[in-house]
Amino acid sequence: MFQKILFVCLGNICRSPMAEGLFIDKVQKSSIQGLEIDSAGTSAYHVGERPDSRMIATAQSHGVHLPSRARQISRSDIKEFDLILAMDKSNYRDIIALCENEEEKSKIKLMRDFDDQNPGADVPDPYFGGDSGFEEVYQILDRSGEKLLSYIQA
Ligand code: 4NP
Repeated sequence: MFQKILFVCLGNICRSPMAEGLFIDKVQKSSIQGLEIDSAGTSAYHVGERPDSRMIATAQSHGVHLPSRARQISRSDIKEFDLILAMDKSNYRDIIALCENEEEKSKIKLMRDFDDQNPGADVPDPYFGGDSGFEEVYQILDRSGEKLLSYIQA
């Protein structure tokens, strides 16, 4: 039974806040109760910042609210969360490096392990690209989030 789910990317201002906001929305529309959802970054580059304005605009265009402020993942997150979803393989490796045992490592998964269309691929980092990258991230996270919801309910 999962109670605490953490989404993680590099800066915690684009991909993981989108994953968090979308998943909060999906859970609120489902019958699931008592789930805690949060996001963090492997870096401290943007700590304290609201999500990137381009990610906020894309979320708003789909009626999704992004509530988070950036923070960096810590050892206490590894201990406290039941499931930690890395947006790409670089994030995955950085989170694994924070783990102290196999039980902790088993809680880390790739977000796109839950994407039927390209399982195990990276959620592409949209930060240095154009606006279409943000919509692509939304579509990937929407699809993967649906599968993740079924996984949690099963
Ligand atoms: P995110 O995107 O990891 O999806 O939040 C990035 C945001 C900022 C930077 C890189 C990626 N940066 O290098 O500042």
